[in-house]
Amino acid sequence: MKNTKKIAMLVMLCMLAIACHTAKKAQGPAYELPEAMKPEVKTEYAKLCDKGKILYDMNCAKCHNTETKHASLIPDFTQDQIRGYEIRVSNPKHEMSLLEEQITPEELGLISTFLMYKKKTGITMVKPAKADAAK
Ligand code: HEC
Repeated sequence: MKNTKKIAMLVMLCMLAIACHTAKKAQGPAYELPEAMKPEVKTEYAKLCDKGKILYDMNCAKCHNTETKHASLIPDFTQDQIRGYEIRVSNPKHEMSLLEEQITPEELGLISTFLMYKKKTGITMVKPAKADAAK
């Protein structure tokens, strides 16, 4: 009798795990691409965004993300911020932390694309606290 209970418990746990997994998948695409984009263009942009996300996680997240108990949230940069950021050489906010040798213009382009189209988290950019420590 004890064993039957154990097995029933295990089966329930398995079903829960499967349910959680499918729920995650059902969240849909991670990016908000313009409606007007053709499907094949969307696919290409999503690939660029995937690359940009990896680069963002490596180079930017440590200063800009908001950490919660369960996740590391990426702020929603405004178009102006992203554009201003693209001209990195003339943006004094980063010249100490993001040198040309660390991130190429191409990589920066991928990061900008990712930030432009990533799903909104509702978090705005706050002055990174860690930045002062990094100076
Ligand atoms: C060492 C910490 C640090 C790292 C790493 C870092 N940033 Fe920043 N970032 C800052 C600080 C500090 C500011 C200025 C905040 C302010 O002025 O309130 C800033 C500002 C910005 C802005 C706003 C620019 C503007 O002109 O208003 C954007 C966009 C941005 N960062 C994107 C990025 C991206 C993308 C990366 C990775 C490639 C990155 N940051 C890496 C510290 C960092």
